[in-house]
Amino acid sequence: LDNGVARTPPMGWNTWNTFGCNINETLIRQTADAIVANGLRDLGYKYVVVDDCWFNPDRDAQGNLQAHPQRFPSGMKSLGDYLHARGLLFGIYQVPLDKTCAQVGGAFPGATGSLNHEYQDARQFAAWGVDYLKYDWCSGTGTINDQVARFGIMRDALASTGRPIVYSINPNSYHAKTGPQRNWSDVANLWRTTEDITNAWNTGQTNGYPMGIQNIVDVTVPLAGYAAPGGFNDPDMLEVGNGGMNDTEMRSHFALWTMLAAPLMMGNDVRSASSATLAILRNANLVAINQDTLGRQAVQVSFDGTRRVLAKPLANGDVAVALFNQGSSTTTVSTTAAAVGKSGSSFTLRDAWTDATSSSTGTISASVPAHGTVVYRVSGGGTTTPPPVPTTFRLRSESS
Ligand code: GLA
Repeated sequence: LDNGVARTPPMGWNTWNTFGCNINETLIRQTADAIVANGLRDLGYKYVVVDDCWFNPDRDAQGNLQAHPQRFPSGMKSLGDYLHARGLLFGIYQVPLDKTCAQVGGAFPGATGSLNHEYQDARQFAAWGVDYLKYDWCSGTGTINDQVARFGIMRDALASTGRPIVYSINPNSYHAKTGPQRNWSDVANLWRTTEDITNAWNTGQTNGYPMGIQNIVDVTVPLAGYAAPGGFNDPDMLEVGNGGMNDTEMRSHFALWTMLAAPLMMGNDVRSASSATLAILRNANLVAINQDTLGRQAVQVSFDGTRRVLAKPLANGDVAVALFNQGSSTTTVSTTAAAVGKSGSSFTLRDAWTDATSSSTGTISASVPAHGTVVYRVSGGGTTTPPPVPTTFRLRSESS
């Protein structure tokens, strides 16, 4: 979406994965302080997004949304001011239907969705200083055309406020549709590609709730052709630091999200993050790959059912290469500089995890543990011709 924001994937934190509906302004402020104190803001983690359950179950007499009086007694404008004063940005959650996801599920009372209040709510968000809206189609009803129309109304409502607001939609939380997924770049800055993530490597689901890391990668890799500055596939928020996976898998999750040009929205309790968790989230080599200004999602170079190679062209002519072992034992994963689009015969490989460099005459290879991902930034050689999005990975609805 050409609205001036999300020229690279947004980074930040969201309440949902760890706290669900159990949120309040003290939690948000403490987390904001921890994001700053841990150096995460300065690495780019700026959007602090308050997900479902922040609102009063009733609108006021004029139909305006209100903050939940016990959870957010100082109000949402005050919360936005707190974040902005610390160099952070403010995100909030709403839905294009009459009930939010927690209201549909019965976890929260009321019916305060934006349906038929879109322009009023957009003006309210702008007045509160909101910089990011997560807009979630949480219902099994409606066709894809209904979604395009409803998501489009809020896109236009946000634009009419004049405030730059990242527009993050979720057309896929109640089902991952079978068949081709739509390219939502005419509607939003970010669009979820699957059902909700959970803190597990593999749930065996590619089309249902909940999704593991491996499953989300399977669905999102073929969508590479959709990503560009201003519009990115959203494989959902990070589970780094939330248990359910070993350290290798956590690192792999983060590395793959950076390669997929995914928004990097932390989903852990940042206030108590371990040094191992922070070491993953603060990997500056991987963050730089994710935030590269070319805004390309990695394309699949090869996959034999176990060894998956992804290549992400970067603005300065380097190529980031992920060697991902989906199997259950250590194996060597290999590709070549030519296969990832580089000409020439002399290259430097920088390992994103160890920061060590090595030289290569063309082979790009590593021994990779089960579920692990080694990432090299490949520089040198001659002209880089970015690998095209392979036609076998294009979706039927793509015209080119
Ligand atoms: C849906 C979304 C989640 C979260 C919840 C909130 O499930 O996919 O990311 O926003 O709703 O209820």
